[in-house]
Amino acid sequence: MQSVATRHISVLYQETLDALAIRPGGRYIDGTCGGGGHAEGILRANAPDGRLLALDADPTALERARQRLASFGERALLVHSSFGEIERVAHEHGFDDADGIVLDLGLSSDQLADEARGFSFDSAGLDMRFDPTRGPSASDLVNRLDEHELADLIYHYGEERNSRRIARAIVAARPVESAQHLADIVARAVGGRRGRLHPATLTFQALRIGVNEELEVLETALPQCIALLKSGGRLAIITFHSLEDRIVKNFYRTESRDCVCPPEQPICTCGHRATLNSITRKPVEPAQAEVTGNPRARSAKLRVAQRL
Ligand SMILES: C[S@@+](CC[C@H](N)C(=O)[O-])C[C@H]1O[C@@H](n2cnc3c(N)ncnc32)[C@H](O)[C@@H]1O
Repeated sequence: MQSVATRHISVLYQETLDALAIRPGGRYIDGTCGGGGHAEGILRANAPDGRLLALDADPTALERARQRLASFGERALLVHSSFGEIERVAHEHGFDDADGIVLDLGLSSDQLADEARGFSFDSAGLDMRFDPTRGPSASDLVNRLDEHELADLIYHYGEERNSRRIARAIVAARPVESAQHLADIVARAVGGRRGRLHPATLTFQALRIGVNEELEVLETALPQCIALLKSGGRLAIITFHSLEDRIVKNFYRTESRDCVCPPEQPICTCGHRATLNSITRKPVEPAQAEVTGNPRARSAKLRVAQRL
Protein backbone atom coordinates (compact mmCIF):
# COMPACT_ATOMS: atom_id res chain seq x y z
CA MET A 1 0.00 0.00 0.00
CA GLN A 2 1.19 3.52 -0.78
CA SER A 3 1.96 5.78 2.13
CA VAL A 4 -1.05 8.06 2.58
CA ALA A 5 -0.95 10.32 5.61
CA THR A 6 -4.06 10.38 7.75
CA ARG A 7 -6.27 13.44 7.55
CA HIS A 8 -7.83 12.61 10.93
CA ILE A 9 -7.26 15.10 13.74
CA SER A 10 -7.42 13.39 17.14
CA VAL A 11 -10.25 14.72 19.27
CA LEU A 12 -9.58 15.73 22.90
CA TYR A 13 -6.00 14.66 22.32
CA GLN A 14 -4.22 16.15 25.33
CA GLU A 15 -7.21 15.64 27.60
CA THR A 16 -7.23 11.93 26.77
CA LEU A 17 -3.50 11.47 27.30
CA ASP A 18 -3.71 13.36 30.60
CA ALA A 19 -6.71 11.24 31.65
CA LEU A 20 -4.76 8.04 31.07
CA ALA A 21 -1.98 9.27 33.40
CA ILE A 22 0.51 7.43 31.18
CA ARG A 23 3.60 6.09 32.89
CA PRO A 24 6.91 5.19 31.23
CA GLY A 25 7.08 1.44 30.71
CA GLY A 26 3.29 1.01 31.00
CA ARG A 27 1.14 -1.19 28.80
CA TYR A 28 -1.81 0.41 27.07
CA ILE A 29 -4.56 -0.65 24.68
CA ASP A 30 -6.12 1.56 22.01
CA GLY A 31 -9.32 -0.18 20.88
CA THR A 32 -9.92 2.27 18.02
CA CYS A 33 -6.53 3.05 16.50
CA GLY A 34 -7.91 4.98 13.48
CA GLY A 35 -5.40 7.57 12.28
CA GLY A 36 -3.08 6.53 15.11
CA GLY A 37 -3.02 9.96 16.77
CA HIS A 38 -3.84 8.90 20.32
CA ALA A 39 -1.75 5.78 19.77
CA GLU A 40 1.32 7.82 18.86
CA GLY A 41 0.79 10.08 21.87
CA ILE A 42 0.64 7.07 24.17
CA LEU A 43 3.80 5.56 22.67
CA ARG A 44 5.70 8.82 23.16
CA ALA A 45 4.54 9.06 26.76
CA ASN A 46 5.22 5.45 27.77
CA ALA A 47 8.75 5.47 26.30
CA PRO A 48 11.34 4.07 26.50
CA ASP A 49 9.99 0.56 26.85
CA GLY A 50 6.21 0.82 27.28
CA ARG A 51 4.02 -1.05 24.82
CA LEU A 52 0.74 -0.42 23.02
CA LEU A 53 -1.76 -2.87 21.59
CA ALA A 54 -3.86 -1.07 18.98
CA LEU A 55 -6.99 -2.53 17.37
CA ASP A 56 -9.12 -1.34 14.51
CA ALA A 57 -11.95 -3.02 12.66
CA ASP A 58 -10.90 -1.27 9.45
CA PRO A 59 -7.93 -2.91 7.70
CA THR A 60 -7.21 0.24 5.68
CA ALA A 61 -7.02 2.40 8.80
CA LEU A 62 -4.76 -0.13 10.44
CA GLU A 63 -2.38 -0.22 7.48
CA ARG A 64 -2.11 3.56 7.53
CA ALA A 65 -1.49 3.57 11.27
CA ARG A 66 1.10 0.82 10.87
CA GLN A 67 3.14 3.16 8.72
CA ARG A 68 2.72 6.05 11.13
CA LEU A 69 3.78 3.95 14.12
CA ALA A 70 6.56 1.99 12.37
CA SER A 71 9.32 3.95 14.11
CA PHE A 72 8.18 2.58 17.48
CA GLY A 73 9.12 -0.93 16.35
CA GLU A 74 7.93 -3.76 18.57
CA ARG A 75 6.57 -1.38 21.17
CA ALA A 76 3.49 -1.00 18.92
CA LEU A 77 1.41 -4.06 18.12
CA LEU A 78 -1.44 -3.54 15.66
CA VAL A 79 -4.22 -6.10 15.28
CA HIS A 80 -7.20 -6.15 12.93
CA SER A 81 -10.11 -6.79 15.26
CA SER A 82 -13.26 -5.30 16.69
CA PHE A 83 -12.87 -3.99 20.23
CA GLY A 84 -15.86 -6.21 20.92
CA GLU A 85 -13.21 -8.91 21.20
CA ILE A 86 -10.73 -6.81 23.14
CA GLU A 87 -10.29 -9.29 25.98
CA ARG A 88 -9.48 -12.28 23.76
CA VAL A 89 -7.06 -10.26 21.61
CA ALA A 90 -5.36 -8.76 24.66
CA HIS A 91 -4.94 -12.22 26.27
CA GLU A 92 -3.49 -13.58 23.05
CA HIS A 93 -0.85 -10.86 23.01
CA GLY A 94 -0.03 -10.71 26.71
CA PHE A 95 -1.81 -7.44 27.42
CA ASP A 96 -3.67 -8.53 30.56
CA ASP A 97 -3.21 -6.13 33.46
CA ALA A 98 -3.19 -3.08 31.22
CA ASP A 99 -2.34 0.34 32.64
CA GLY A 100 -4.92 2.03 30.46
CA ILE A 101 -7.43 1.58 27.67
CA VAL A 102 -8.77 4.17 25.25
CA LEU A 103 -11.83 3.93 23.01
CA ASP A 104 -12.40 6.85 20.65
CA LEU A 105 -15.69 5.80 19.12
CA GLY A 106 -17.22 6.32 15.73
CA LEU A 107 -15.52 7.00 12.46
CA SER A 108 -12.41 8.84 11.36
CA SER A 109 -12.09 11.68 8.87
CA ASP A 110 -10.28 9.24 6.57
CA GLN A 111 -13.34 7.02 6.45
CA LEU A 112 -15.67 9.99 6.05
CA ALA A 113 -13.64 11.23 3.08
CA ASP A 114 -13.55 7.87 1.31
CA GLU A 115 -16.26 8.06 -1.39
CA ALA A 116 -16.65 4.33 -1.67
CA ARG A 117 -17.48 3.87 2.02
CA GLY A 118 -20.65 5.94 1.85
CA PHE A 119 -20.38 7.64 5.24
CA SER A 120 -20.92 11.15 3.87
CA PHE A 121 -24.02 12.56 2.17
CA ASP A 122 -22.37 13.07 -1.22
CA SER A 123 -20.72 9.64 -1.52
CA ALA A 124 -21.07 7.36 -4.50
CA GLY A 125 -20.94 4.27 -2.25
CA LEU A 126 -23.34 3.06 0.46
CA ASP A 127 -21.42 0.63 2.62
CA MET A 128 -20.78 2.18 6.09
CA ARG A 129 -19.09 -0.89 7.54
CA PHE A 130 -16.02 -0.16 9.64
CA ASP A 131 -14.90 -3.64 8.70
CA PRO A 132 -15.76 -4.14 5.03
CA THR A 133 -14.89 -7.83 5.34
CA ARG A 134 -17.83 -8.65 7.63
CA GLY A 135 -21.59 -8.39 7.84
CA PRO A 136 -24.29 -6.62 5.84
CA SER A 137 -23.65 -3.14 4.46
CA ALA A 138 -25.87 -0.05 4.63
CA SER A 139 -26.93 -0.81 1.06
CA ASP A 140 -28.10 -4.26 2.17
CA LEU A 141 -30.15 -2.74 5.00
CA VAL A 142 -31.82 0.06 3.05
CA ASN A 143 -32.63 -2.20 0.12
CA ARG A 144 -33.69 -5.33 2.01
CA LEU A 145 -35.32 -4.46 5.34
CA ASP A 146 -39.09 -4.13 5.23
CA GLU A 147 -40.54 -0.69 5.82
CA HIS A 148 -41.39 -1.38 9.44
CA GLU A 149 -37.90 -2.68 10.31
CA LEU A 150 -36.29 0.25 8.55
CA ALA A 151 -38.48 2.75 10.42
CA ASP A 152 -37.63 1.10 13.75
CA LEU A 153 -33.91 1.20 13.01
CA ILE A 154 -34.04 4.89 12.05
CA TYR A 155 -36.12 5.67 15.13
CA HIS A 156 -34.08 3.72 17.69
CA TYR A 157 -30.56 4.46 16.46
CA GLY A 158 -31.20 7.93 15.01
CA GLU A 159 -33.84 9.16 17.47
CA GLU A 160 -35.42 10.50 14.26
CA ARG A 161 -39.04 11.50 14.83
CA ASN A 162 -39.83 11.31 11.09
CA SER A 163 -38.63 7.71 10.88
CA ARG A 164 -41.87 6.30 9.45
CA ARG A 165 -42.11 8.89 6.71
CA ILE A 166 -38.45 8.39 5.82
CA ALA A 167 -38.76 4.60 5.72
CA ARG A 168 -41.79 4.86 3.44
CA ALA A 169 -39.91 7.16 1.05
CA ILE A 170 -36.87 4.86 1.00
CA VAL A 171 -38.93 1.78 0.22
CA ALA A 172 -40.78 3.64 -2.57
CA ALA A 173 -37.50 4.78 -4.14
CA ARG A 174 -35.66 1.42 -4.12
CA PRO A 175 -33.16 0.43 -5.31
CA VAL A 176 -31.15 3.02 -3.35
CA GLU A 177 -27.85 3.17 -5.15
CA SER A 178 -25.60 5.54 -3.25
CA ALA A 179 -25.32 7.62 -0.09
CA GLN A 180 -26.06 10.64 -2.24
CA HIS A 181 -29.26 9.02 -3.49
CA LEU A 182 -30.26 8.16 0.08
CA ALA A 183 -29.56 11.70 1.30
CA ASP A 184 -31.76 13.09 -1.50
CA ILE A 185 -34.62 10.70 -0.69
CA VAL A 186 -34.53 11.66 2.99
CA ALA A 187 -34.24 15.39 2.25
CA ARG A 188 -37.28 15.21 -0.03
CA ALA A 189 -39.23 13.21 2.57
CA VAL A 190 -38.65 15.58 5.49
CA GLY A 191 -38.07 18.92 3.80
CA GLY A 192 -35.11 21.26 4.16
CA ARG A 193 -32.33 21.62 6.69
CA ARG A 194 -32.87 21.75 10.43
CA GLY A 195 -30.54 24.50 11.52
CA ARG A 196 -26.99 23.52 10.64
CA LEU A 197 -27.80 19.84 10.25
CA HIS A 198 -28.41 18.08 6.93
CA PRO A 199 -31.91 16.54 7.01
CA ALA A 200 -30.42 13.05 6.59
CA THR A 201 -28.00 13.36 9.55
CA LEU A 202 -30.00 11.18 11.95
CA THR A 203 -30.86 8.62 9.27
CA PHE A 204 -27.17 8.26 8.38
CA GLN A 205 -26.27 7.98 12.07
CA ALA A 206 -28.89 5.27 12.54
CA LEU A 207 -27.71 3.23 9.58
CA ARG A 208 -24.08 3.45 10.65
CA ILE A 209 -24.95 2.34 14.19
CA GLY A 210 -27.11 -0.49 12.85
CA VAL A 211 -24.62 -1.71 10.26
CA ASN A 212 -21.78 -1.84 12.78
CA GLU A 213 -23.94 -2.89 15.76
CA GLU A 214 -22.18 -0.08 17.56
CA LEU A 215 -24.24 -0.03 20.75
CA GLU A 216 -24.17 -3.80 21.22
CA VAL A 217 -20.41 -3.94 20.61
CA LEU A 218 -19.81 -1.14 23.12
CA GLU A 219 -21.93 -2.90 25.74
CA THR A 220 -20.01 -6.12 25.16
CA ALA A 221 -16.64 -4.38 25.38
CA LEU A 222 -17.08 -2.41 28.62
CA PRO A 223 -16.95 -5.35 31.09
CA GLN A 224 -14.04 -6.77 29.10
CA CYS A 225 -12.14 -3.52 29.60
CA ILE A 226 -12.63 -3.77 33.36
CA ALA A 227 -11.34 -7.34 33.31
CA LEU A 228 -8.22 -6.22 31.45
CA LEU A 229 -7.26 -3.25 33.61
CA LYS A 230 -4.88 -3.60 36.53
CA SER A 231 -5.83 -1.94 39.80
CA GLY A 232 -5.38 1.81 39.30
CA GLY A 233 -5.57 1.42 35.48
CA ARG A 234 -7.60 4.00 33.57
CA LEU A 235 -10.39 3.67 31.02
CA ALA A 236 -10.93 6.70 28.75
CA ILE A 237 -13.87 6.69 26.35
CA ILE A 238 -14.75 9.39 23.83
CA THR A 239 -18.33 9.28 22.50
CA PHE A 240 -19.97 11.33 19.76
CA HIS A 241 -23.69 10.90 20.31
CA SER A 242 -26.05 10.59 23.23
CA LEU A 243 -26.90 6.90 22.72
CA GLU A 244 -23.32 5.75 23.26
CA ASP A 245 -22.59 8.37 25.92
CA ARG A 246 -25.57 7.10 27.91
CA ILE A 247 -24.21 3.55 27.80
CA VAL A 248 -20.81 4.67 29.11
CA LYS A 249 -22.31 6.95 31.78
CA ASN A 250 -24.65 4.25 33.10
CA PHE A 251 -21.93 1.62 33.04
CA TYR A 252 -19.54 3.82 35.05
CA ARG A 253 -22.33 4.64 37.48
CA THR A 254 -23.28 0.99 38.04
CA GLU A 255 -19.69 -0.16 38.29
CA SER A 256 -18.92 2.54 40.88
CA ARG A 257 -21.49 1.06 43.30
CA ASP A 258 -21.21 -1.74 45.81
CA CYS A 259 -24.89 -2.58 45.53
CA VAL A 260 -27.17 -2.32 42.51
CA CYS A 261 -30.37 -3.65 44.14
CA PRO A 262 -33.54 -1.57 43.56
CA PRO A 263 -33.70 1.27 46.15
CA GLU A 264 -36.94 -0.07 47.68
CA GLN A 265 -35.26 -3.36 48.58
CA PRO A 266 -34.28 -3.26 52.30
CA ILE A 267 -31.46 -5.83 52.14
CA CYS A 268 -28.84 -6.23 49.45
CA THR A 269 -29.12 -9.48 47.53
CA CYS A 270 -27.16 -8.57 44.40
CA GLY A 271 -23.69 -9.19 45.79
CA HIS A 272 -22.34 -6.61 43.36
CA ARG A 273 -19.02 -4.99 44.25
CA ALA A 274 -17.72 -1.72 42.78
CA THR A 275 -14.99 -2.20 40.19
CA LEU A 276 -14.48 1.39 39.08
CA ASN A 277 -14.10 4.88 40.41
CA SER A 278 -15.59 7.31 37.90
CA ILE A 279 -13.09 10.18 37.67
CA THR A 280 -15.14 12.51 35.46
CA ARG A 281 -18.36 13.42 37.26
CA LYS A 282 -19.21 15.47 34.17
CA PRO A 283 -17.82 14.51 30.78
CA VAL A 284 -14.83 16.45 29.44
CA GLU A 285 -15.84 18.38 26.33
CA PRO A 286 -13.63 20.13 23.78
CA ALA A 287 -12.77 23.79 24.25
CA GLN A 288 -14.23 26.23 21.74
CA ALA A 289 -10.83 26.58 20.05
CA GLU A 290 -10.74 22.85 19.33
CA VAL A 291 -14.25 22.87 17.85
CA THR A 292 -13.38 25.86 15.68
CA GLY A 293 -10.31 24.08 14.31
CA ASN A 294 -12.01 20.69 14.03
CA PRO A 295 -15.83 20.89 13.82
CA ARG A 296 -16.01 17.06 14.05
CA ALA A 297 -15.08 17.48 17.73
CA ARG A 298 -18.24 19.43 18.59
CA SER A 299 -20.25 16.55 20.02
CA ALA A 300 -17.34 14.72 21.70
CA LYS A 301 -17.57 13.71 25.35
CA LEU A 302 -14.75 12.07 27.26
CA ARG A 303 -15.53 9.97 30.34
CA VAL A 304 -12.76 8.48 32.44
CA ALA A 305 -12.81 5.83 35.15
CA GLN A 306 -10.16 4.13 37.27
CA ARG A 307 -10.08 0.41 38.09
CA LEU A 308 -10.32 -0.18 41.83
C1 LIG B 1 -12.51 8.34 15.71
S1 LIG B 1 -11.52 7.12 14.96
C2 LIG B 1 -10.16 6.93 16.04
C3 LIG B 1 -9.11 8.00 15.86
C4 LIG B 1 -7.86 7.83 16.68
N1 LIG B 1 -8.14 7.86 18.10
C5 LIG B 1 -6.82 8.86 16.33
O1 LIG B 1 -6.42 9.63 17.21
O2 LIG B 1 -6.39 8.90 15.18
C6 LIG B 1 -12.44 5.68 15.27
C7 LIG B 1 -11.86 4.40 14.70
O3 LIG B 1 -12.50 3.33 15.38
C8 LIG B 1 -12.69 2.28 14.49
N2 LIG B 1 -13.76 1.46 15.01
C9 LIG B 1 -15.08 1.73 15.08
N3 LIG B 1 -15.72 0.71 15.67
C10 LIG B 1 -14.80 -0.22 15.97
C11 LIG B 1 -14.84 -1.48 16.60
N4 LIG B 1 -15.98 -2.02 17.03
N5 LIG B 1 -13.69 -2.15 16.78
C12 LIG B 1 -12.50 -1.63 16.37
N6 LIG B 1 -12.41 -0.44 15.75
C13 LIG B 1 -13.54 0.26 15.56
C14 LIG B 1 -13.00 2.93 13.18
O4 LIG B 1 -12.71 2.05 12.11
C15 LIG B 1 -12.09 4.16 13.21
O5 LIG B 1 -10.89 3.92 12.55
